[in-house]
Amino acid sequence: MSTGPLILGIETSCDETGVGIVRGSELLADEVASSVEQHARFGGVVPEVASRAHLEAMVPTVQRALRTAGVTMREIDAIAVTAGPGLMGALLVGVAAAKAYALALDKPLYGVNHLAAHVAVDTVEHGALPAPCISLLVSGGHSSLLLVEDVTRGVQHLGATVDDAAGEAFDKVARVLGLGFPGGPPIDRAAADGNKSAIAFPRGVVRDAPYNFTFSGLKTSVARWVEARERAGEPVPVADVAASFQEAVVDVLTARAIAACKEYDVRDLLIGGGVAANSRLRALAQERCDKAGVRLRVPRPKLCTDNGAMVAALGSLMVSCGVEPSTLDLPADSSLALVRV
Ligand code: KG4
Ligand code: ZN
Repeated sequence: MSTGPLILGIETSCDETGVGIVRGSELLADEVASSVEQHARFGGVVPEVASRAHLEAMVPTVQRALRTAGVTMREIDAIAVTAGPGLMGALLVGVAAAKAYALALDKPLYGVNHLAAHVAVDTVEHGALPAPCISLLVSGGHSSLLLVEDVTRGVQHLGATVDDAAGEAFDKVARVLGLGFPGGPPIDRAAADGNKSAIAFPRGVVRDAPYNFTFSGLKTSVARWVEARERAGEPVPVADVAASFQEAVVDVLTARAIAACKEYDVRDLLIGGGVAANSRLRALAQERCDKAGVRLRVPRPKLCTDNGAMVAALGSLMVSCGVEPSTLDLPADSSLALVRV
């Protein structure tokens, strides 16, 4: 059994109410209540609906996590919570709950950055983070390339999407193909039976910004291609479109991540966020890392999508590194920035 502080982490930045408990770097509980089904008919997350669902799920999810971990609230040494970035109303529910627990238990409160937490979660699966490492974070809300020296004290943002996040592109293309929401998993499944070279979809480049991403041109290109087929009265080869679209996304993501590893002379790449669950992204990243002599770390899929374990994991690192706790006036910040080291 590992030693170290017992940390409760709360995540409510989007549509998952996540509560995780770690002791040191040992994961004891990772409970998630998702409101994703309530958003499905809208084809995207509705902030007001997400906030209300967090409010209803908060206390039961904390209680479930405590039961799973086999600990009591009194034993918790510190409370960590996502302070941003994310949906304002959703963040506020988690931050208010974390403050209430910290105040009632007289324990320190740690506001954490959601993106840094996506990086930190890998410590509970693969151990201490190599320093420095490059991290590619790809989800429904963000697509970022980060240079991580010390995840507890801020990381350097090398690039981000200038329009849609990678997961958002999966969600929008899935809608065009009638595959439902969220779109990543059904596209991943459909693509398994398709030809990834069937259609040459564009790889978006952002001028003078080698580590930025753009997916809106790709998304439009897929929509136009499908429309043209439908206008011509021809069937849409869903598997081929899914595979070709998916390839265009993962080609760009992995190429830029490897380029960053080379430029910054970094030997470790960590991929996180919901899109990191994508089977082709994992396979192509492994292939390209092997070729470039880069070690690849990808947490298991459940730790890639939003969860409380990632917040607890980062909180635990912050406590261990002696980072000052937050004060009880910690604000939720929908566009909370990652600080450059
Ligand atoms: O990290 P996450 O759970 O929430 C955000 O912070 O956004 O990521 C959700 C996103 C969705 O856009 C979903 O379509 C995408 O991750 N996703 C995938 C896969 N599983 C989830 N995208 C591609 N392939 C997958 N297998
Ligand atoms: Zn996320």
